[in-house]
Amino acid sequence: MRAWDDRPPEPAAHAEPVAAARQTPPGTDAHEHEREHGHSHGRDHGLGRPRIGIVGAGRVGTVLGVAFQRAGWPVAAVASRDAERRARFGALVPGAIGVTGPEGFLDAVDLIFLAVPDDAIGPLTAELRLYSGQSLVHTSGLLPAAVLAPAQAAGTMVASFHPLVAFAELERALHDLEGATVALEGDEPLVALLADLAEAIGAVPVRIEAGGKAAYHAAAVLAAGGFVALLDAIALLARGAGLDEAGALAVYAPLIRQSLANAEALGIAAAQTGPIVRGDAGTVEAHVEAMRRLAPGALELYAAAARREIALAEGRGGLSSEAAERLRALLAKRR
Ligand SMILES: NC(=O)c1ccc[n+]([C@@H]2O[C@H](COP(=O)([O-])OP(=O)(O)OC[C@H]3O[C@@H](n4cnc5c(N)ncnc54)[C@H](OP(=O)(O)O)[C@@H]3O)[C@@H](O)[C@H]2O)c1
Repeated sequence: MRAWDDRPPEPAAHAEPVAAARQTPPGTDAHEHEREHGHSHGRDHGLGRPRIGIVGAGRVGTVLGVAFQRAGWPVAAVASRDAERRARFGALVPGAIGVTGPEGFLDAVDLIFLAVPDDAIGPLTAELRLYSGQSLVHTSGLLPAAVLAPAQAAGTMVASFHPLVAFAELERALHDLEGATVALEGDEPLVALLADLAEAIGAVPVRIEAGGKAAYHAAAVLAAGGFVALLDAIALLARGAGLDEAGALAVYAPLIRQSLANAEALGIAAAQTGPIVRGDAGTVEAHVEAMRRLAPGALELYAAAARREIALAEGRGGLSSEAAERLRALLAKRR
């Protein structure tokens, strides 16, 4: 499956393919469940295809609602305190009822998604009480499923379902779900059911341990917002060369794609190019001088990236320790 699944797990950050962990809980008779509830399912998690209720008609809640429904998983209801967002959700997900809070749909759904800001998950959970047979899921990349425990009663399950997608705009996010990673963690066999759901929307389910979520999420933030910050610094510098934002993107996007493709094909260390790997201190000095005059706002990020590059080049034996020290000293007196 995914490259990270094949590596030996780090102590606190362990991810493995969900498929490997799927299992039917002891004593569960999937067919009996189907007869009882009148719906079918592809795998042996014994939970069938549940009626879904989504709390939060924001970016993630709305996109997931549309994606689940399009994949044939019934979205029965949405809870949003905002009438306009409820109406938009209803238009996008026909058949879903709109209520103001989760208490309004609790007895009409089996699987509840909390797609609300991380800080709201705790307070919301404290007010919820699940019925036996129900499951509660949140979409936070940081928090473990265990934060949902206060809502649990006997015979309920909790999990987290984190799609690794930048939910900036509805149609783009729906498109980006295809092939995206969905990190799962929580109770079995709910995780197995969520793996089916992730696959149904075209994503790739991956199991992650609760203790690894903060590191996993920090990396995601660097890959999304951090990368946007890097782009902003690139555009700032390009302005010094007379390029506007569109010009900067046109000029540097192909180079970014080349670097990414090289890293994917050759590995990160081998994809390194430029003055740092060559030990060209004079070039780095000229960059720092130009940035001081034309784009001082880009200096900090340039220096942080350069220090990381020095360590990378030194670590793979591509840079002598003397050259590395010369570059570090130069970056240290940049102000
Ligand atoms: N944005 C991303 O790219 C992304 C990616 C993966 C995962 N996530 C995770 O998905 C979750 C939702 O993120 P989002 O980007 O969709 O947020 P969002 O666009 O801000 O939407 C949040 C929704 O939750 C509702 N809400 C806000 N505060 C609430 C409260 N105190 N009680 C109940 N409902 C409340 C909002 O208001 P109304 O009730 O008024 O509608 C809104 O509908 C977060 O856990 C986030 O970490 C985000």
